[in-house]
Amino acid sequence: MNNIDKRVEEILAKMSLHEKIGQLNQPQTPLPEQTEKLKEMVRRGEIGSILMAVGATAGNDPQGDISVDFYNELQRIAVEESPSGIPLIFGRDVIHGHRTVLPIPLGMAASFNFDMIEKCYRDIAEEAMNDSIHWTFTPMLDLARDPRWGRIIEGAGEDPLVGASMAKAVVRGVQGDDLTARDSMLACAKHYVGYGAAEGGRDYHRAEISDYTLYNYYLPAFHAAVKAGAKTVMSSFNEISGEAVTSSRKYLTDILRGYLGFDGFVVSDYGCVEQLIPQGLADNRGDASRMALEAGLDMDMWDGCYHESLEKEVESGRLDIAVVDEAVRRVLRVKMMKGLFEHPYCDQHEIDRTEHLARARALARESVVLLKNEGNLLPLRKDTKIALIGPYVNERRSLLGSWTVDGKAEETPTLREEMAKVAGPNGGQILASSASGLSYEIAWMPYALIGCDVAVLAIGESWVVTGENKAVSNISIPEEQIALLKRAKMSGKKVVAVLFCGRPIALEGIAEYCDAILYAWHTGSEAAGAVTDLLYGDAVPSGKLPVTMPRLATHIPLYYNVTSSGRPVNCYYNQNAGNCYFDSIPTPYYPFGYGLSYTTFAYGDVRTEKDAIALDALKAGARFSFTFSLRNTGEYDAKETVQLYIHDPVAKMMRPLRELKAFEKVFVPKGEAVDVTLSVGYDELGYFLPDGSYTVERGKIEIYIGENCLTSQKAEICIL
Ligand code: GLC
Repeated sequence: MNNIDKRVEEILAKMSLHEKIGQLNQPQTPLPEQTEKLKEMVRRGEIGSILMAVGATAGNDPQGDISVDFYNELQRIAVEESPSGIPLIFGRDVIHGHRTVLPIPLGMAASFNFDMIEKCYRDIAEEAMNDSIHWTFTPMLDLARDPRWGRIIEGAGEDPLVGASMAKAVVRGVQGDDLTARDSMLACAKHYVGYGAAEGGRDYHRAEISDYTLYNYYLPAFHAAVKAGAKTVMSSFNEISGEAVTSSRKYLTDILRGYLGFDGFVVSDYGCVEQLIPQGLADNRGDASRMALEAGLDMDMWDGCYHESLEKEVESGRLDIAVVDEAVRRVLRVKMMKGLFEHPYCDQHEIDRTEHLARARALARESVVLLKNEGNLLPLRKDTKIALIGPYVNERRSLLGSWTVDGKAEETPTLREEMAKVAGPNGGQILASSASGLSYEIAWMPYALIGCDVAVLAIGESWVVTGENKAVSNISIPEEQIALLKRAKMSGKKVVAVLFCGRPIALEGIAEYCDAILYAWHTGSEAAGAVTDLLYGDAVPSGKLPVTMPRLATHIPLYYNVTSSGRPVNCYYNQNAGNCYFDSIPTPYYPFGYGLSYTTFAYGDVRTEKDAIALDALKAGARFSFTFSLRNTGEYDAKETVQLYIHDPVAKMMRPLRELKAFEKVFVPKGEAVDVTLSVGYDELGYFLPDGSYTVERGKIEIYIGENCLTSQKAEICIL
C-alpha cells in the first residue's frame, strides 16, 4: 500500500458515516442569502466539493466573478473546523479558457495542432488555479455527428482519433507533470458516455448505441483521457439503449474501471442522480442514490440526493457501507494527489497574460478553416478599400463562444478594431456597418459598396444558440444575413465571408454567394486579431475540418467514417450508383479533414518500406511506414495537416470506408518540399468487437494519404 493509500485509510477509519457521505456531496455556489447555511454544512463535514457555478447551464448564463477570499474562507472552515479537517475541492467549467479564452474546442480541434492546444491549456490552468479552481470539468469528449446538437461545439467532432488527441492534449495541459503544482488543475473527462449520440441532436435525449459502436467510436477518447492520467470522469445525462448511464454498473464500473482502467472518481453531471426518477428507473431519491452509488457514481453534483438519503440507505441495510467507503477512498485519494491537504488555500498572485493571449491568437489562427478562395481573392492587400458589413463587425461576446464562464466580452477586440489597425497605416480603408440585414440595409448595400474593392461580410451564429440545451432544427445563419450576402454578391463585388459560427452549418444557399469563406468558429479572446492576420496574409490558414459540413440539415447525420451499404448509393463518397434522396445529393458540402491554404501542396508518390507484414510481427511492434514528399507549390510559407486513412475492404464486421489513423501538421516553406513519413501498426489496423476485444485481421488494407478524407491517393498493404 503506498503512502497515499495509507493516509486515506487512516482518515477513513476516523470518519463518521455522516462525514463519509459529506465527501460525496457537491452543492453549487450558494446565493448570498444561503452562504451561512453552506458554511454550517462545511463545518459539519457534509460537503466534499463545491461546484463553482450558479444554475444548471453555467455555459450559457453569467456566473459572476470569483471571490478567492470567499473560497479560502470555506476552505478554512473545512480544514480548521470540520470533524476530520478534510479540504474541499473546488470545481468549475473552465472548458476552453479562463480570463484568456481559447477557441471553442471544435475550433481548436480544427487546428490539428495538439501540442499548441496542450500549451494553451497550461496557461489556462495557471489562470484558473489562481482563482481557487482546483478542478475543471474538461475535456468534453463526446463524439458528435449531429450539428443540431448545441454541444457539438464543446467536443472534437466526429472522429475517434481526433477526440483521443484532444483528450490527451487537454488532460496533459490541465494536469501538467505535477498535479500538486500551483498551475495544475484536475481534469475531468466528460460526459461519459454516448451523450453526443442524442437522437435528433435533441439535448439530454436517448442514445441508441450498440457495444460495437461504443467501443469503436465513443470510447476511444475516454480511453485516451484515462491513459493521459485524468483523475476524474463526469457521468452523462443520457440513456443508452434502455439504461441510464447514471445507474449503469456496466458503463460506470465494468467498462470505465474494468476495461478502461480508470482509477479516479466519478462525479455526476448536474442533478443526474435525481433524474433517475423522471427517467423511470427510481421511485424516490433514496433508491436513486443507492442505485447510482452502487453503479460506481462516486460524487453527486448539486441535487443533494446522496447527502439526504445515503445514511438512511446504509442504516436500513439496503446499502453496504463498504460501497460508501470505496467511493470516499477515491475522492480522498484524488484530493491527496492534488496536494490539497498540504496546500488547501489559493495564494493569488499577478499573472502577466501577454504570452497567454499570444498563444491564444496563434491557436485561433490555426483553428480557422479556409473553405473557399476563388481566384485567390485572399489574402487582401493592406491598402484595400473594404466594405466591412454584418452583425459581427462590432461583435465581442459571440467571438468568445458558449461555455465562456470567466472571459470578459468587454476585453475582446472586435473585427473592425483589429482590421482598422492594419488598414489605417497601410492606406487601406474600412467602411464598416454592423448591418444585420434589415430591409433598408439590404437596399442600401449597393450604395455602400460603391468605390470599395471588396466586401467582407462578418456574419455567423450567435453564441446564444450553441452549447448546452441549445439544439436547433435549422443549422444555418439568420435569413437576414443571407440576404446581406446575396445583396453584396449581386452588387458585382467580390465577397469574402467570415463565418463566426459555433456548430457546422448547412452551407447550401450560403456558400454560393461567397468568393472566399473563412470559417472562424467562435475563436476566443483573440478571434478578431487572428481573423485579421489571416485576411491580410500575416498568417496563412491551416485549419482542417474535424467535422463534416453538410449541404442541408436534412442530410444529418452525415459523417465521414461511415460503412458502405450493400447497394452503393451516392452519399458521402459519391458512389454514383444512385441517390439516397430523389431531391438532393447528400454528399458533404465540405468533407472531414478539408481545409485550404493560400498556397498549394503537391503530394508525391507514396513509398512504402514494406507492403506486407505478418500479424505476429505487427503484434511485436512492426509498422507499415509511408513516405512521400510534400511540396509547397505556391507563394506562401504554410502548414498542411497530412492525413492517413485506412479502409479494411473485407472483415468479420463491417468497417468504415475511411478511418483516420495518422496525421501530422507539417510546415513547408514556399517552393520547397519536405519528406513526410506516416506509419500505422497493430494498434491502428484493427477494431473492437462487440465484447470490447481488439482484433486485427489478416488480409488487404487500403491506405489513403492526402489532404482530406476524400483523397484518392491510394496504397495497399497486406497483413499476412
Ligand atoms: C452542466 C453540464 C456539464 C457541466 C456541469 C457543471 O449541466 O452538462 O458539462 O460541467 O453541468 O456546470
